[in-house]
Amino acid sequence: MSSDMSQIQINQAGHLAIGGADALDLVKKYQTPLVVYDVKAIRDQIHHFQKVFQDNGVDYAVSYASKAFACIAMFQLINQEDAHIDVVSGGELYTAIQAGFPMDHVSFHGNDKSVEELEMAVDHQIGVIILDNFHEIDLLKQILDEKDAHINVMLRVTPGISAHTHEYDQTGQVDSKFGFDLQSGQARKALNLVLADPRMTMLGIHAHIGSQIFEVKGFEMAATKLIDTLGDWHKDIGYTAKVVNVGGGFGIRYTEEDDPIAPEMFVDAIVKAIKKRVGELDMPMPAVWIEPGRSIAGPAGYNLYTVGSRKDVPGIRSYVTVDGGMGDNIRPALYQAKYDAVLANDPKAPVKETVRVAGKYCESGDILIQKQPLPATKPGDVLAMLATGAYGYAMASNYNRNPRPAVVFVENGKDQLAIKRESYEDLIHLDEPFTLK
Ligand SMILES: Cc1ncc(COP(=O)(O)O)c(C=O)c1O
Repeated sequence: MSSDMSQIQINQAGHLAIGGADALDLVKKYQTPLVVYDVKAIRDQIHHFQKVFQDNGVDYAVSYASKAFACIAMFQLINQEDAHIDVVSGGELYTAIQAGFPMDHVSFHGNDKSVEELEMAVDHQIGVIILDNFHEIDLLKQILDEKDAHINVMLRVTPGISAHTHEYDQTGQVDSKFGFDLQSGQARKALNLVLADPRMTMLGIHAHIGSQIFEVKGFEMAATKLIDTLGDWHKDIGYTAKVVNVGGGFGIRYTEEDDPIAPEMFVDAIVKAIKKRVGELDMPMPAVWIEPGRSIAGPAGYNLYTVGSRKDVPGIRSYVTVDGGMGDNIRPALYQAKYDAVLANDPKAPVKETVRVAGKYCESGDILIQKQPLPATKPGDVLAMLATGAYGYAMASNYNRNPRPAVVFVENGKDQLAIKRESYEDLIHLDEPFTLK
């Protein structure tokens, strides 16, 4: 049996099932490489987050970090579940506009938002711009004056705590390209600038301490630090924050090596830490916002590939190559991310060997999985990589001029195309002929 059966469903035909659909039927209909999302898994995770806030009696927003995976259908699904989104570019914002996403549920992040992007945010009266630096405050001031407009803002701060998968670092994150530093007084200076501008309404503060975090402690410490900061601002200048936004970063299971708590348990710990400190400081309880990306999109996604060639290097290892790779999922090549895979046409078949799963791109580094136990495979088999829904398609490229895969959503056995497969014509549609002599 291949390595991790706990994450998958197998149907009566003995095939991998995703959202009630047979993975092989999806492959027949849409070809490979194919990205498939289990819609119910996305909905369920949003509900789990929402329930934590409701159980704790706290005002909240679950704001999906759309950098994990964005397209029109995804935004429409997120909106159906009453979740917010955060965007980090004009392109993500444009997609949300085209999706009909309620603009008052959009937060805009980024450490170098352009004038055009800020204007777009102001013109569409998005929910909040999360200010990242002094240059941005200047730009936004000018834009608001020119347009005689008003906008909600928050300050992104670096609380001096960074978290890595299993550790946190109390002195970390000060040296970051994002946000205003708390220690040196930058954040207080930014607060004064914002409060002095009647065109900006200061909603509160934001911090994001890292990604794929397994350790609750760093989140609790950062959340407490944010409340301490708001407590100081309340005491010193009477500023009362409406919102504290603790970012995302809740770790998920990619392989058997990962054993995180459920994503909502992080949020429960954060909310309790915030309530405790707010009580101790006797200050008004702000709404708590979170920005999960990976934990909403990641486990819901599957990348389906067709097995092609094979190379056996005697005494060393075997390479099994699939018809995708770093163009549809660059994470293994970029930062040695690990994944698990199953044979979609027979996930329960006994393991026969451990192979290296290679992509088809012209790079030696295009290896999707370094060591994957698998049953015997043959060309034409379908391999499913698990938990690929976050930062996979979102980082896809046309390297080697390979078209990007199609993306399909599945729920209750019904499927729909969410993003079409790119064609060769799509690949050249921005190209211009050579005209210089
Ligand atoms: C500001 C901010 N919020 C939220 C996220 C989402 O993090 P994750 O996908 O790990 O939940 C990120 C990821 O980089 C981020 O930078």
